[in-house]
Order: sequence, then C-alpha cells, then structure tokens
Amino acid sequence: MSTSLADLETPIPLVDLDRLDRNLDRMAAYASEHGLALRPHIKTHKSPRIAAEQLQRGAVGVTCATVREAEVMSEVASDILVAYPILGSSKLQRLMALPPSVRITVALDSAAAVEQLAAAAREHGRTVGVYVEIDGGMHRVGVSTPDEAVALARLVTERAPLEYAGIAFYPGHIRQGPAEQQQALAQLARDLHTFTIALERAGLPPQVVSGGSTPTAWRTHEIPEVTEFRPGTYVYNDRTSAAVGACTWDDCAFTVLATVVSTAVPGQAVIDAGTKALGREPVRGVAGEGFGALLDRPEVTVRAMSEEHGILDLSTTDWRPAVGDLVRVVPNHVCIVVHLNDVIYGVRGDTVESCWPVAARGRGQGQG
Ligand SMILES: Cc1ncc(COP(=O)(O)O)c(C=O)c1O
Repeated sequence: MSTSLADLETPIPLVDLDRLDRNLDRMAAYASEHGLALRPHIKTHKSPRIAAEQLQRGAVGVTCATVREAEVMSEVASDILVAYPILGSSKLQRLMALPPSVRITVALDSAAAVEQLAAAAREHGRTVGVYVEIDGGMHRVGVSTPDEAVALARLVTERAPLEYAGIAFYPGHIRQGPAEQQQALAQLARDLHTFTIALERAGLPPQVVSGGSTPTAWRTHEIPEVTEFRPGTYVYNDRTSAAVGACTWDDCAFTVLATVVSTAVPGQAVIDAGTKALGREPVRGVAGEGFGALLDRPEVTVRAMSEEHGILDLSTTDWRPAVGDLVRVVPNHVCIVVHLNDVIYGVRGDTVESCWPVAARGRGQGQG
C-alpha cells in the first residue's frame, strides 16, 4: 500500500511509523536496562500487530482491560493479564475459552471476584493466576489495607486451580511530569513496602509486583518493590502525555488527519473532525485548553466541537488556512480516539504505507 495523504478521506487516524518504532524501542530499552518486566497495556492500540512488536522487543506478556481485548490478543500473546475484575458468567466463560496455551492472570480486589473466577476455573480445569489489586493512591479500585490484601491472597491460595501470583496497583493519580514525581513516588514506595512486608510475614510474598503507567514509566526503577510495569499510552502518546512531560511533542505518533471545511466565521477555521473523531477528553492533570492541537502548530487548538465539526482557534496564530487544507490533530487522550476507529493508517512523511484494524475494539458480545 502506498498512497499519499491527500488521497485519503478525512477524518482519518494516522500513526507515524518512525515515531511508533522509536517509542516501542525506547520503552523496551528502559525495561531491559533496569531488569523490569514490561507488560504493556494494549488498551491504547487494541491491535495484535502492535502487541506482536512489543513482544518481539522483549515484553513478557500483555495487559488487557476487557475480555474482548484478551480474546484478540490471544492470537499473538501466550501470557495475558486482565487488569480488571471479571464478573458474570458470560465474561468468565469467554475468558476460560481462551486457547489453553495462554497463561491467564486476573487482577481483582474482592472475595466475590475470587469465588466467581475460582468456580469458572474449576469448571474448566484451568489454572488462572491472580494478582491481588491494592490501592496505590488512585482510589479507584484495590484493597486499602495490608490486612485486606493478606486475607484476599490467602483466600486465593485456598481456591485451586487459582494461583496467587502477586499484587498489582495502578498509579493513575500521579499525573505530574516525571521531574515532579519525587514525593508521590516516595509515598507509593512506602505504601507498597507496607503491603509487601505484611504479605511476607503472612507467608504470602508476592512473586510479582505489577504497576506502572506512561507518566511514571521512566521512574519505575525508583520504586524498589516493583518487578513489572504496564504502560500503555507510550506507544502513540498524546497531547496529555506531552503536556505533563512524559514525552516530547515529537514523540506523538498518532494524529487525526482532517480537512478544513469552513473559514466563514472570522477568527476560526472549522475541520471535519468533531467529537466523533476526537472524543471530548480534557487535557488531564494539567491546565490546558481545547480538545486537541495541530501537530505542526501546537499553539493552534481545537477550541470547541460538535459531532462532526471541530473549531480551530486562530487567535494564537497568523496562519490562515484555506478551505480544503489538510491538518493533523494530536488528540488529548489517544486511547479514546483509537477506540472510535475501525482502521489505523501507518504513514512515513506524506506516504501511507500500511493499515491495520483496531481489532480489539468493542465488547465482542455474540462474536464467539
Ligand atoms: C490498570 C492499568 N494499568 C496500566 C495502564 C496504562 O497506563 P497509561 O495509560 O498511563 O499508559 C492503565 C491505564 O488506564 C490501567 O488502567
């Protein structure tokens, strides 16, 4: 496939293949330099093709959030962590139906989730690893005390064929840039230590301590307890990652190509990418405005949107686009935008070299 950008129908999601390669290489090199197991979260790309590239570069397995993602990733990955409590017989049956060669681990934080998973695993005679999820400060999921973690880990050991495999946490509350994370990381390290000591004393030392996000990825080695990390966004990066300093603007591999469709109202230009192409995510964790910014002119932001209209704010620039011009928008939160698309186009410069499906999007009910 070799097409020029000008031949594409907009709005359309593009990935700069050179930047993608660089992002993949850099994280793999960091993991190997620090002896950390990299288990990337695939929720960002939802594509077996990119998961395969991560595995080829040394990832120990992948992390998924949904059963659909696990089903699709089982095409290329033999070790899958579902970092989400799986509840309900339909989802559990689908999880147990993954190829027997796949090692499944589930992160969970309740006795109810343990009992449901244990019953499904028993029914299928399938060994399933369990990470006990602890709250590392985000206050989303995870047990909040070491005693609860010990009780849950013990319950898992009593529910063969489940296997207690370690603990997991997600530092989603640490949204400041790497340079400003010192205090938050130190607190996290202290909290993790309290949990691991309690588990060790109870005879339940965690084999794996799994954490990690894109903003904290580059400082993972400073949290002594962590053995495995799960960044996801780093493959493509986005305006938020760049705004907090987790990457540079030049590391943003993903853009939405859009066409200027109107300049009739002074001070603005309208593109054919609105909420249905860009999502409506704020720039998380930092003061920022708009719903995306132009790759080549980051000072120009998408100020407002309708479903199919994005309003570019021209008050910050002398640039005056013409109707029909093409622009590339870096979205605020790339994971949401990927999920809005069926197919992604890989580009080098102005040439489209390849395309691939966002195979794990959706829930996949009724597709088994
Ligand atoms: C449980 C879990 N692990 C890892 C990640 C990856 O973090 P990031 O998107 O910052 O790369 C996420 C992101 O939502 C997550 O929810």
